Amino acid sequence: MARILITSALPYINGIKHLGNLVGSQLPADLHARYMRARGHEVMFICATDEHGTPAELAAAKAGKPVADYCAEMHEVQKRLGLGFGLSFDHFGRSSSARNHWLTQHFAGRLAEAGLIDEVEEVQVWSPADNRFLPDRYIEGTCPACGYDKARGDQCENCTKQLTPRELVNPRSAVSGSTELELRPTKHLYLRQSTLRDRLDRWIDSQRGWPILTTSIAKKWLHDGDGLQDRGITRDLDWGVPVRRGDAPWPGMEGKVFYVWFDAPIEYIAATAEWADAQGQPDAAWRRWWRTDEGAADVRYVQFMGKDNVPFHTLSFPATLMGSGEPWKLVDYIKSFNYLTYDGGQFSTSQGRGVFMDHALELLPGDYWRWWLLSHAPESGDSEFTWENFQASVNKDLADVLGNFVSRITKFCAARFGAQVPAEGDYGALEHAAADEIDRRLRAYERHMEAIEVRKAAAELRAIWVAGNEYLQEAAPWSTIRTDREQAAAQVRFALNLMRLYAVVSRPFLPDAAARMMASLASADWTWPADTAAALEALPAGHGFEVPEVLFRKVTDEERAAWAERFAGVRS
Ligand code: MF3
Ligand code: ZN
Repeated sequence: MARILITSALPYINGIKHLGNLVGSQLPADLHARYMRARGHEVMFICATDEHGTPAELAAAKAGKPVADYCAEMHEVQKRLGLGFGLSFDHFGRSSSARNHWLTQHFAGRLAEAGLIDEVEEVQVWSPADNRFLPDRYIEGTCPACGYDKARGDQCENCTKQLTPRELVNPRSAVSGSTELELRPTKHLYLRQSTLRDRLDRWIDSQRGWPILTTSIAKKWLHDGDGLQDRGITRDLDWGVPVRRGDAPWPGMEGKVFYVWFDAPIEYIAATAEWADAQGQPDAAWRRWWRTDEGAADVRYVQFMGKDNVPFHTLSFPATLMGSGEPWKLVDYIKSFNYLTYDGGQFSTSQGRGVFMDHALELLPGDYWRWWLLSHAPESGDSEFTWENFQASVNKDLADVLGNFVSRITKFCAARFGAQVPAEGDYGALEHAAADEIDRRLRAYERHMEAIEVRKAAAELRAIWVAGNEYLQEAAPWSTIRTDREQAAAQVRFALNLMRLYAVVSRPFLPDAAARMMASLASADWTWPADTAAALEALPAGHGFEVPEVLFRKVTDEERAAWAERFAGVRS
């Protein structure tokens, strides 16, 4: 039994996430967590809302709420939606937690003691009307390139040109609209990442078997251009972790907070501490996952994220941990994803384009989405969501293959043998052949799951379901029973056992359907079928069951058309 720490990139607090966000981190992380638990490993699965930074402040302002209230509400919303998709976090924390404040300040203090922090004086835009410094994206004006009059100080949304506030024509404060802006000197902290470059480089080289997508992005940032740049880790904002040097104030940094990308990954650790607090456990309970001197040396740590997050997880966060000089657990494997596109375009939070988690659950339960998303995970390249494709997957894989198998065998047995596992007859050539194929495919499925090859695993799982259907088609107990009731009984017993095996192995993908299958079999035997032959004898003769409700319903053409139309435009 191994100990496996799993973190999913933290979703921003600034609104409900779309399905592209979900499939890029939280959902595949959940698949891995569920699989590893099913194999008997000790798992700690952590996620949280990423609550700081200008996007949080802006979203709260737009909602007309104090930012703390907004974050508290959105955290609950995201937590509830996660449950709707069956996400099985051990803890879903908040980066605004007291634990994260403390740890973030702790790391900053350690980095300063190690001589890895520079205090740098800069000039920045000050708005007297707002009585504050304005971050780049809080300054609006006319784009010098395209003339768009609501360009932001970091980028023009209209023509995508990257901008600095100085380039804007007629700049004004996005907070108050005031055009009376001045430049004032202000001090910021920089993390001297460049001094850790060689150490990071060696560490990345020592990581065997990282996916190419992960390593190539990390290497590019390490070696391209000027290599790893020192990075500003503070901001002039109200909302965030106040800058302190460990437990002490940081002279000259009053009123400033840490940059969101500095505190967010630290929340992986802090959320584990939040978990311990919520469980009433002592600090040792979370530290054994994170401190190599307190038990974490034999933890395997796996991270899940979209590819845009890779530089922060391969370089910046490791720089924080290494630079602290303390024995924190570093990541062992980073699984990163490309993008999911929506019907020929991008999913977009700012434009409300695509399907979002709340709307998805209004249409169909979580398992339907889990199946489509995971079996189409954007692993080797981007993948595209279309309603045709979604409908085809649901109707074919879930309804016609898995659902049909379950309904056919339970109904037939109940009608002809009563709702219990028939005792007569012995498994013959057909059963052994089917068991052999399933055994072979199960071992392949396990290999793909261990390697976190999500699409391959889904394809193998589907093939395991197909093998059962083909067996049933060929054995045809409904015909056999006319001439040989004993043999028909053995066929039914085999298929009912297969149904239990399906519940067990499908559970990481389809937790809700798996639970319903198991409940209908009146079983709680979730033993992994490491021994396929034994698993196919697990339900004893005479064991009672109930015919389950329809496992998966089909998506009609009318629904597909209506949904495609409803989600064609922008989110309202
Ligand atoms: N909120 C970020 C995003 O959605 C991810 C943060 S991951 C963490 O891109 F490392 F900061 F935790
Ligand atoms: Zn422009």
